[in-house]
Amino acid sequence: MSRLNIVSSAPLRGRVCVPGDKSISHRALMFGALADGESRIEGFLPSGDCLATLGCLRALGTEIEPAPSPSQGEEPALSPSKGWGGGQATTLTIHGRGLHGLQRPAAPLDCARSGTTMRLLAGILAGQSFDCVLTGDPQLLARPMRRVTEPLRAMGAEIEDTDGCAPLATSGRRLHGMDHALGVASAQVKSALLLAGLYADGPTVVRQLAPARDHTERMLAAMGADVAVDGLDVTLKPVDFLSPNSLVVPGDVSSAAFPLVAAALIEGSEVTVEGVGVNPTRTGLLDVLRAMGAEIALENARVQGGEPVADVTVRASSLRGIEVGGNTVVRAIDEFPALAVAATQASGVTRVRDAAELRVKETDRIAVIVEGLRTMGARIEPQADGFIVEGPTPLKGAAVDSHSDHRLAMALAVAGMIAEGETVVENAECIADSFPGFVELMQRLET
Ligand code: S3P
Repeated sequence: MSRLNIVSSAPLRGRVCVPGDKSISHRALMFGALADGESRIEGFLPSGDCLATLGCLRALGTEIEPAPSPSQGEEPALSPSKGWGGGQATTLTIHGRGLHGLQRPAAPLDCARSGTTMRLLAGILAGQSFDCVLTGDPQLLARPMRRVTEPLRAMGAEIEDTDGCAPLATSGRRLHGMDHALGVASAQVKSALLLAGLYADGPTVVRQLAPARDHTERMLAAMGADVAVDGLDVTLKPVDFLSPNSLVVPGDVSSAAFPLVAAALIEGSEVTVEGVGVNPTRTGLLDVLRAMGAEIALENARVQGGEPVADVTVRASSLRGIEVGGNTVVRAIDEFPALAVAATQASGVTRVRDAAELRVKETDRIAVIVEGLRTMGARIEPQADGFIVEGPTPLKGAAVDSHSDHRLAMALAVAGMIAEGETVVENAECIADSFPGFVELMQRLET
C-alpha cells in the first residue's frame, strides 16, 4: 500500500481498540534488555519503528521471542512485513542481559525511520564498553542529533555525530553524572540522558523546559531505578541492577487521535476507543479538542502498566477555533497534523504557536500539513513556530503526499474522509511505522 484512496465517509460509530503505545513499547523493549531476568510485554506495538528497536536489541545480543498470549492463543511471527492483526506478535518475552551484558554488534545498528530508537539507544550505548554505530533511513539521517550527542559528550561519552546528524559512532567511556538544563522540550533527549545516567559515577539531573512524556521515569522507577521527580526536574542515581518488568501496554493515544478527530468532525458519529493511555503528559489533544467544543468523555479509568488508562468517547460536535501554545504543545506534539485537520472545520481562527519542534519531526510537519490541506482547499498559513487556520472550510478531495511521514498520511486520510470527492494519499505505507491496521480500523467504524 503506497497509495491510499479515500472517499467521504459515512458517520463513524462503534467501540474499537488501537494498537499499543509506541513510546511505551520502545521503552519496554530497551529497559527489559537491560534488566536482570525475564520481562513479558503484552500489547506490544509491532510497528516499523518498534520493530527497528527490536532488531537493534537483538543485534546487541538480547534474546526476544514471541510468547503465546491469551488473545492470540498461538505464537505469531515477528516480521515487519505482516500487518497488525495479521498474525504479528503483540506478546513478547525479553531475556534481559543486565546493565552490563549487551554485546558489541557485528554491524551498524539500523534504526530505520525511528528517532526514538536512535536517540534512546545513543544514551544506552554511551555507557557500554564497546564501540558501535547507529544509522537508519535517509529520513532519519536528516534529523538533528546534536541535541543528544552534545550533552552525552558533556557526561564524558565518546560519541561522534555526522555534521550534527546520524550516523552516530559511540565507543565505551566512563560517564560522570551531571546537571543538564535542556534546550528543547524533548522526551527523547531527556530519556537518552537518564539512560546514560544509569552508567554514570554519580547523580544525573535533567531540568526540562516543559513536561515532556514521562514514560521513562515511570518505567525505570517500576524496575527499581533510583529516580526522583521534582516538578520539571528529574534526578537519577545509578543502581547495580534493574528488575524485570512485565506489563500490558496501553493503547496509543497518538493513534487514537485519528479516529477520535474523525468522529468529532463527521456528523452523526460516536466512537469509543477502549484502553487508551491517558498519561497527562500525552493528553494535550484531548484538552485542545474539548476547548474547541468537542464532546469527550473518559470512562473506566484505571492503571495499566504503571500508566493511567481509560475508554475515550468522542461525539460529533461543532468546533470553534482557539489558540494553542505553551505547555500544551509538548503534551500534544505528535497530534498537530490531526489537530490542523480539525481546525479546518472549526469556526473562527485556530492559531498554533511555540511548536517549532514540528519542523524537525519525521518531516517538517508544518510545511507538509500546510501543503496537503491547502491542496484540499483549506485556509492555512505556516508560521515559523506553528500555523494559523481559518475555518470552517469545506475540503475538496485531491492528490496529496505524506512525504513518508506516518502521522501526515493518517491526518490527510482523515481530511479525505471529510472532503467532497476522492482523495489520494501518496506514500501511505509509512502508516505502519506507528499504526498498522489503521485503514481496517477506520473501515470497521464506518456505518
Ligand atoms: C517520543 C518523543 C517525542 C515524540 C516521538 C516519541 C518518545 O519526540 O514526538 O514521537 O517516545 O520519547 P521528542 O522527544 O523529540 O519531542
